[in-house]
Amino acid sequence: MSTPVIVQELTDITPAGPKISQAISVVIAIPKEQAPGEQRVATVPEVVQKLTKSGYEVRIEHNAGSNAYYDDNLFVAAGAKIVSSRIDLLKGARIVLRVQPPTVSDVEQLDEGTIIIGFMNMTNNLPVVARMCDRKITAFALELVPRISRAQSMDALSSQATAAGYTAAILGADNCPKFLPMLTTAAGTIRPATVLILGAGVAGLMAIATAKRLGAVVEAYDVRRAAGEQVRSLGAKFLELEINAEGAGGYARELTAEEKAKEQQMVSAAVARADIVITTAAIPGRRAPLLVTKETVATMRPGAVIVDLAAESGGNCELTQYGKTVQEQGVMIIGPQNLPARVPFHSSQMYAKNLQSFLALLVDKEGALVKEFSDEILVASLLVHEGKVHHGPTRDLLGGEKI
Ligand SMILES: NC(=O)c1ccc[n+]([C@@H]2O[C@H](COP(=O)([O-])OP(=O)(O)OC[C@H]3O[C@@H](n4cnc5c(N)ncnc54)[C@H](O)[C@@H]3O)[C@@H](O)[C@H]2O)c1
Repeated sequence: MSTPVIVQELTDITPAGPKISQAISVVIAIPKEQAPGEQRVATVPEVVQKLTKSGYEVRIEHNAGSNAYYDDNLFVAAGAKIVSSRIDLLKGARIVLRVQPPTVSDVEQLDEGTIIIGFMNMTNNLPVVARMCDRKITAFALELVPRISRAQSMDALSSQATAAGYTAAILGADNCPKFLPMLTTAAGTIRPATVLILGAGVAGLMAIATAKRLGAVVEAYDVRRAAGEQVRSLGAKFLELEINAEGAGGYARELTAEEKAKEQQMVSAAVARADIVITTAAIPGRRAPLLVTKETVATMRPGAVIVDLAAESGGNCELTQYGKTVQEQGVMIIGPQNLPARVPFHSSQMYAKNLQSFLALLVDKEGALVKEFSDEILVASLLVHEGKVHHGPTRDLLGGEKI
């Protein structure tokens, strides 16, 4: 399919982007997400408007945004073309933006050299990675974007963790048989509920802020001492332990056996007095740490709720089942799947802006697509290019092939 050359002033690709003029002829395609339960879409009309103004041709699969309440007509008004056939959409696309990893059958439809950007969940999608290699697709994995200040606007892990943390607090409140705020009424005084947040990273801090806004008494714990200041600044109590497990890159390191025992003791006491426990503790690339044992659950009040955001990576609670809600001695344990998809309007909006910022890295000062991926953010997030896998752990899992 031939692509018209669009000559236009290229402005405002990022909020702080430079003004550049150049001819570009780049088709960006946005397919409808097909993973079960996925409600998000990789772009929104507001971002489409900026991209088309910059000279891109944006094509959206019919109904791609309808689950997030961005109907086709809104995309058309923003300058996009709606394409009803997925095959037609993918053929001729220079860049494909998505939320979830592609399927092998989608990869088959792409032209050689197509750039695909989104979450890749690569270590769990090895056949797709291998196929992208064979078909000479270039793939950028948003989960590999480094957590440096310059990359904050493209940090989709953070934007989606924000959505997950908010939703976890709402889910906890919705399933709690109590009010969260203190109430003084003619029918008596209601004591506020206690919410405990384990893991005060991006999702945990958002869960704290949301629970505080709902009026709960909030306590939080994280192995990184630096998290204490952020927790206290949100008006929550930080549970202190004589451990500082801040490891490389600001992430948590794994605790020693002795540290784990001390942690268990303190966490168990806090869990027992909580009405809602939201767990978000994670260590990149490893099974989530076990923070709430079944013995600890047995000490909780009937009606208490655990929302385990780490369910996908094994769970912070011993009784969590990923994608399920279980009841244990009157305690509800929720192991949610894809929480950002429960607030698809805003999680898509944030994700779309992350992608808009990321796209700006792919365009040089003359407004042409870069030929070399030399920017450190591109280097770090490049998964597959010209038949080679650039992410070490994925390459190792593929048996060292495709280097
Ligand atoms: N651009 C940036 O500079 C940037 C962006 C996002 C996050 N960050 C930082 O990266 C770090 C991790 O963020 P994240 O939300 O992606 O983390 P994450 O999802 O990997 O982990 C969530 C939290 O769990 C905590 N945790 C791990 N093991 C624990 C245990 N045994 N007990 C209690 N807590 C435990 C971690 O310390 C972390 O705060 C934070 O310091 C965050 O501020 C920086």
